[in-house]
Amino acid sequence: MRTQVGIIGAGPAGLTLAMLLHRDGIDCVVLEARDRTYVENRVRAGLLEQNTVDLMRELGVGERLDREGLEHDGIYLRAYGRNHYIDLAGLTGRHITIYGQQEVIKDLTNALIEKVPIHFEAADVALHDIKSDNPRITYQHDSQAHELTCDAIAGCDGFHGVSRRTIENHITEYDYTYPFGWLGILAEAKPATDELIYAWNERGFALYTMRSQKISRLYLQVPADEDIANWPDDRIWAELGERLGEVNEGNIYEKGITPMRSYVAEPMQHGRLFLAGDSAHIVPPTGAKGLNLAVNDVRLLAPALTELIRGGRTDRADGYTAAALRRVWRAQDFSNYMTRMLHDLGAGPFQQQLQLARLDYIARSEAAAHSLAENYVGLPAEPDFQLPWPRSRTRRASTSSATACSPISSPTAGGVGATPG
Ligand code: FAD
Ligand code: DHB
Repeated sequence: MRTQVGIIGAGPAGLTLAMLLHRDGIDCVVLEARDRTYVENRVRAGLLEQNTVDLMRELGVGERLDREGLEHDGIYLRAYGRNHYIDLAGLTGRHITIYGQQEVIKDLTNALIEKVPIHFEAADVALHDIKSDNPRITYQHDSQAHELTCDAIAGCDGFHGVSRRTIENHITEYDYTYPFGWLGILAEAKPATDELIYAWNERGFALYTMRSQKISRLYLQVPADEDIANWPDDRIWAELGERLGEVNEGNIYEKGITPMRSYVAEPMQHGRLFLAGDSAHIVPPTGAKGLNLAVNDVRLLAPALTELIRGGRTDRADGYTAAALRRVWRAQDFSNYMTRMLHDLGAGPFQQQLQLARLDYIARSEAAAHSLAENYVGLPAEPDFQLPWPRSRTRRASTSSATACSPISSPTAGGVGATPG
């Protein structure tokens, strides 16, 4: 079989790329390891930046999002029992929207299913000849061996996929592990707050978010190696109450623990293989950037592939890594800044006082609040590929959690003198 772009992975990156390429008249085939029901029900992120919402509308998949998504004008930062409101809309003129990632996946799949072949339950996916102009993908589907010859391959198969592994000898990895994770729940309970609450607490961080007027989504900071069996529902509600104040309780129908990590692979291209989304980078969820970065990558990748395939022009394809990583590193910095400002870093009272000084600075300085707000809602999509200066890269750049979370005092490490993020 032949196609122009073979897309591996039917997550937000792969499906959005398929929509963009189809719109531009480029043929593609999507290969997904899991079945459709699994992919459409996998509970993950829920916060869409304005850029993401605008793109979904532009692609004709914004109708249910506009109907059911919850548009938010601001967030609360909470410490010592008090909420401080950050007026995102007032400061930036932009909004965020709460709409579950699995709903985005359903909308994209429904829109694509008649237009683009999506092979769910594709097994043993392997990439070949990626340095040639005709890279190939082999895989098993419906108990048969298949081969797909392409002009280019998009590796949109998440952090544990096969694509990045295929080029692991050609990339530099920047890796940073946190000694804590998030315990997340979905509960049948009316949210007790109008806006999201990011709570600093001596017992650890907590986040109050939601999915609808009847469904709450809540997160608690827990140790990275925590066993979910240690968290019966009563303990979860008691701890949420301690950290967030007033919380409406209800039936918990989903709970899980997510580890926290910062990771970037560079470059995001090798030969005719292009990585997008979590296959190339991971951020801690405190800045809510993971899904939004995945969508931004493919916004840049689609025109690069179209020009490569249609006109043989390689300049956009060659510039893909630099263009995508510009936003990725901004989001890495912001996510790290939010994480270190709000979580118990286990580093004692000096560290805590620095965190409180940061929160206080945001509460009293419009410049600080504005900087947080523009990072949180997401900077506008880049109009072109121009960078103010070239990027350089270092070889092997892993950091352990011990150093990752040590003092935040230096402004260049994201202190209050620097832009938040
Ligand atoms: P994915 O969504 O991971 O999609 C990759 C797809 O590729 C999957 O469908 C997978 O099944 C498929 N695949 C993998 N390997 C293969 C293979 N070999 N062959 C074929 N297909 C393959 N972000 C936030 O902003 N806030 C959150 O609260 C949040 N919570 C998260 C919770 C969890 C448990 C996880 C894992 C992530 C969370 N994220 C969160 C991050 C966010 O969900 C991701 O950034 C986003 O899903 C990235 O989209 P993607 O398309 O790049 O990758
Ligand atoms: C949600 C998740 C996040 O990581 C975040 O920062 C804000 C909201 C959510 O699931 O709604």
